[in-house]
Amino acid sequence: MNNIKNIAVLVSGGGTNLQAIIDAQNSGIISSGRVSLVIANKADAYALTRAQNAGIDTAVVLKKDFDSQYKFETKIIELLEEKNIDLIVLAGFMSILSERFTSHFDKKIINVHPSLIPSFCGEGFYGLHVHEAALKKGVKVTGATVHFVNEIPDGGEIIMQKAVEVIDGDTPEILQKRVMQQAEWKILPAAIEKICSEVN
Ligand code: GAR
Repeated sequence: MNNIKNIAVLVSGGGTNLQAIIDAQNSGIISSGRVSLVIANKADAYALTRAQNAGIDTAVVLKKDFDSQYKFETKIIELLEEKNIDLIVLAGFMSILSERFTSHFDKKIINVHPSLIPSFCGEGFYGLHVHEAALKKGVKVTGATVHFVNEIPDGGEIIMQKAVEVIDGDTPEILQKRVMQQAEWKILPAAIEKICSEVN
């Protein structure tokens, strides 16, 4: 029998992906892991309210409170280790983590990205910018990817992907919403359950 895995979710903004994870726990889609900590790098991230409403412990770690990336990441590592976290989920976490951080948690960090990697990914491609770039290029299909996080931004092993149609007249905002609803909010919980249920 597997133990229930201890999950931390790192966020920066609205937290709709965090909400999808919480909802998936409540509906039983995620049964092999439990979110026990949400860490935000923005004090006003609405994701914090979502976590608190679900009774999940939260922490805020602001880069400006530390004089280096190293110390900022050390604080996050301390919080994760205090809670014996098995899986770290980046769900709209808008800060690039150093190789020291990613190698410390090798194969224990996953990220959701709002495109079909290797399209529209890497440094500078985050949030709405990804959808702006997809529309500018004129792609007819986009989607989302869940992947392991390593030292290359959006470069780690792909775990799950789901395609989403681009429709004539789409704005970045409309496309973002469709990608979230049809892809991100589905494959992120599914990938979490897959990883947490694997024996290791
Ligand atoms: C999501 O679309 C997520 O894929 C994206 O930011 C949004 C966060 O929304 N992440 C990235 O672009 C990472 N490169 P949320 O806070 O509502 O989950």
